[in-house]
Amino acid sequence: MITVIHTINELRTHIKNYRDENKNAQIGLIPTMGALHKGHASLITKSAQTCSLSIVSVFVNPTQFGVNEDFSKYPRTLEKDIEVAKEAGANIIFAPSAEEMYGKGYSKDFITLVCPPYDLVNKLCGKTRTGHFDGVATVVSKLFNIVQPDYAFFGQKDAQQLYIIEKMVKDLNFNIKIIPCPIVREDSGLAISSRNQYLSEKEKEYASSLFKSLSAIEKYYKQGIKNTKALFDTAISMLAKEAQLEYLDFIDYENFEKTDIIKGRTLIAICAIIGSTRLIDNIVLE
Ligand code: PAF
Repeated sequence: MITVIHTINELRTHIKNYRDENKNAQIGLIPTMGALHKGHASLITKSAQTCSLSIVSVFVNPTQFGVNEDFSKYPRTLEKDIEVAKEAGANIIFAPSAEEMYGKGYSKDFITLVCPPYDLVNKLCGKTRTGHFDGVATVVSKLFNIVQPDYAFFGQKDAQQLYIIEKMVKDLNFNIKIIPCPIVREDSGLAISSRNQYLSEKEKEYASSLFKSLSAIEKYYKQGIKNTKALFDTAISMLAKEAQLEYLDFIDYENFEKTDIIKGRTLIAICAIIGSTRLIDNIVLE
């Protein structure tokens, strides 16, 4: 059984009653923007294995989209999402309207925003998506305050988002354990994403070259090459010429700064545009 809730009050009442009736309740939150796929299903399943109640939020958050981004065309498939979430083990879907989340006639310039540190947002996706991570941190904080979960589950595909949320939880003392979940891939290696729906079959083939580039880096790194310039050149030679590279960066996990030499845990993140679709992927090398 899955319950679909659209208002904050109803969700809070439901959670309060659940906690009153279940003294050892462990609540898991899986924040999503809907268009649920196998990647989301893996987060929900992980929550269902860890928690006694799993809540999936489905909200295409307007504050994290730039003016020229795909907010209006972002897939909205609530009926299908309910089925996917139920199948994966969710108990509640929270699907609020923008008004419910931000108030009637809200304006992005007239709400309190949670702004992650500049040093974390001035790179990778934050370089071109101005204000994106303010929108993400704001809506995730709101969801954390509304649900007050014990655990929250995030995919590692959005590595910068995950890093920022982990930092935010620490800095703002949210009493929530963040569980990072591995990237789910198609057989071709293409990381599963809601935005893959925009791709034609041919474009999906080009898109799989993002992972081929990352895999080439991993292969040469394992052969002893640690210089990121050499690894970068190798990776680029594997990228489909139809893919317009936005970035391929090597980020030291310690300080989230770019690095020239792989020394410890390193995030290798790629972003490319195929047709009109912007895709991201990454691997982590230790
Ligand atoms: O990763 C996403 O789908 C979104 O950025 C999130 C975390 C649900 C916030 O809107």
